[in-house]
Formats: sequence, structure tokens, C-alpha cells
Amino acid sequence: MAQAQAQPNIALVKYWGKRHGARNLPAVGSLSVTLESLWTRTEVEFDPDLPEDLFLLNGVPDPKGLVRVSRCLDPIRQRASCLHRARIQSRNNFPTSAGLASSASGFAALVTAAIAALCLEVSPEERSEWARGASGSAPRSLYGGFVELRLQETPAPGRTELVPLADPGHWPLEVAVAITSLSAKPVGSTAGMEITAKTSPFYEDWIRAQPADLEAARQAVLARDFEKLALVSEHSCLKMHGLALAAKPGLMYWNGATVSCLTVIRDLRAQGIPVFFTIDAGPQVKAVCEPGASQQVAGILRQIPGVLEVMTSRLGPGARVISGAGKSQPSGP
Ligand code: PMV
Repeated sequence: MAQAQAQPNIALVKYWGKRHGARNLPAVGSLSVTLESLWTRTEVEFDPDLPEDLFLLNGVPDPKGLVRVSRCLDPIRQRASCLHRARIQSRNNFPTSAGLASSASGFAALVTAAIAALCLEVSPEERSEWARGASGSAPRSLYGGFVELRLQETPAPGRTELVPLADPGHWPLEVAVAITSLSAKPVGSTAGMEITAKTSPFYEDWIRAQPADLEAARQAVLARDFEKLALVSEHSCLKMHGLALAAKPGLMYWNGATVSCLTVIRDLRAQGIPVFFTIDAGPQVKAVCEPGASQQVAGILRQIPGVLEVMTSRLGPGARVISGAGKSQPSGP
């Protein structure tokens, strides 16, 4: 038995689209920041007396989630030659499946806890592959700070490489997360990516332009160039949603309050407050701020009609074991 904690990560250069015919391989690389104060804590206990895997999310059995959880555990069990089923208990301190990257923190925590519970010595590549098989954004939560998931074209086309770019201390950005709806999103990211790849007229251009966006974001992070990071991140976000809107049927993840937040954030930046926005497959708005600016930005976002709650976070560490058997897997910076 072991328990692990992981935090969601927020993509600044977005992953949207999977490689054709491959098991959950992304069609594009991506770059993210890992948060600190939102978390998933997951306990995994392998039990020889258990006939089936059992998954509780926030104390409630979750049969739909169980299928993905079991599928994620299977290759780890196989690697450890373990035939036992597991009892998995997971808790989020933030809304699940609402565009707050709960699958990223959830699967990063699950993989980390399962490896520790089975006392497996594994390479960073194996950990990353297991998390990536469950959710394309999950490997990024294995590391803290600024993280890139790169696509390798050689020697093995389509393999991914997880690159910790900089630790939180390099540039302690802050994030204010404006919650505008607590409902689960109507179209999940896997289905949304499939519809987009099949029907959006802009999909090929999206794939082609991604390396340039990644390079710009990488440079901005290393140089701590906020304006440059703001431009490329908002561009990547709006492009991803533009692609999805142009799919058939069009995917609309935003609500009225989402749009109000975008307008306010752009106005604040024009007035000299260092903040930019990004949005994932849901209506929540993440306002990324220079160190020290998030409380002021959160206060302003709270005044917007339709904003239910604003959470703030600094950048945090990667997934780690917090109790139980096995060794703590080294997290990234
Ligand atoms: O990892 P998934 O399948 O939940 O997809 C994540 C997709 C986005 O959050 C919209 C973008 C990203 O890179 O995290």
C-alpha cells in the first residue's frame, strides 16, 4: 500500500490531438506549469483477497473512472508480475472533470502510488509512459515547475520525452483559477480531440505550427520574458479553442463568464498588471500572473458575474509518495 500526491498542471502550449492509430500518443508536444495548492491524493492497496479492482473518488464508488484506473494499473502490475487487484481511493481538493486537469493530477498520483506500493524500481521513461497511456497531460504532473512533453521523431517516431525545463524557483509565477461552472464538461477531451482531428479544417495547420510555439514558450520561460510567454500562451489557447469551435459539430467549452474573464484579463494587462489567460477543455479560466500579482487579479475576477470561486496557487513540485511502502520516486525540480 502507498499514497501519493500530485498537482494538476496547466498547459501554456496546449496538447490537442492524438497520433492516428497509436495508443494515446499525442500528435503535438506541449508545455505546462505544475500547480501547488490544488491536489489529488491517491492511495493504492494491492490485495490478494480482492476479486476486482475497487475505485473510490472522493469517498464514492466511481464505476466509470474504474475502467480507466484499471487500464492504467495493468501494465504496472504486469511489470511487477503482480496478479492482485487493488483498492484505489482518490481525493481531489478541487472540482473533478471540469477542465481543471483532474485527470493529469489523478493519473500522475495513481502511477506514483502504484509503483511505490509494488516497490518497483523504474526508469523515468517508464513512469512517464504509464501516465501518458492513461491521460496525455498526466506525465507533465510527474514533474514540478515548467515541464515540456516533447515528441521524438528519431529514432522512434511518436515516442514522447518528458523534459523538466525549470523548477518553480526559477520564475515563481502564480495562477488564479476562476471557476465559472461546477458541471462536468459535456464532451471529454479524448472525444473532443477525435472530432477536431476528423472534422476541423484547421487541424493540419495546428500540428504544423506547434514546434514554433513550443520554441517561443521555451525561450520565454528560460529568459523569464512575461510578455513573450503571455503572447504565445494566449495564442496557443485561442488556437486550440478555434480549432475545436470549427469542428463539426463545433465544440464550445466556454460560457458567458469565461468570455468576461478573458476581456477583463486583457484589459488588466493593457493597464500594466502582469497577467495572461489560458483555458482548457472546460469553462474555467486560468490567469497566469507574475510573482505577487495573483491576489489582486483574483480579487478582480471574483467581481465578475458568473464567477463562482477563484482559487490561487503558486507553482509546485512534481508527484511524490506521501506515505506507505516503497521508496519515494524522485520528482523533478
Ligand atoms: O490529458 P487529457 O486527455 O485530459 O487532455 C488535456 C487537454 C488540454 O487540457 C485541453 C490541454 C493540455 O495540454 O493539457
